[in-house]
Amino acid sequence: MIVLVYDSLFGNTAIIAHKLADTARKLGNELVEMRVNEINNDLLKNASTLIVGSPTQNFNASKPMLEFLEKVDAESIKNKKIIVFDTRIDLNSIDSKFLKWLVNRGGYATSPISKKLKKKGAIIVGAEGFIVSDREGPLLEGETERAENWLKETLIKGN
Ligand SMILES: Cc1cc2nc3c(=O)[nH]c(=O)nc-3n(C[C@H](O)[C@H](O)[C@H](O)COP(=O)(O)O)c2cc1C
Repeated sequence: MIVLVYDSLFGNTAIIAHKLADTARKLGNELVEMRVNEINNDLLKNASTLIVGSPTQNFNASKPMLEFLEKVDAESIKNKKIIVFDTRIDLNSIDSKFLKWLVNRGGYATSPISKKLKKKGAIIVGAEGFIVSDREGPLLEGETERAENWLKETLIKGN
């Protein structure tokens, strides 16, 4: 069973999460999708693969996602395959050269998520960011299709 856990403030990460869930199910996987505040360790224990997604906020994952990563039980994710995604702002939408540099330099949610999960013994099999045109969205055109293709490739690679 795949467990997909995500957070979303404005709904864009949720759109990607739903697309990834659909894609995995269409490939014949049993999948449970949950918001990060609804997840529990028992469910994680039963998962063979975990998909984790968060909006990038202040060069990091969102606060609810960080809290989840903090409290997740290492026993329930050790040696499990984990696929990580985030959403992030389109650098082309930022006028200021300095801000553009800062956002790019600061990094995105996939990095801290991957790092924290690896520390607890997980195996990261894929990590990808999807772009929103502005802070509240919408997603750039084609991003949901890109998400679908990316997951298909990642699931094949990870097997
Ligand atoms: C408080 C806050 C901080 C943000 N910081 C970043 C950032 O550091 N880098 C970035 O690329 N996008 C940043 N963004 C844009 C978010 O990535 C964007 O709101 C998110 O991808 C939308 O996903 P959601 O609709 O699921 O919340 C930030 C947004 C908010 C609200």
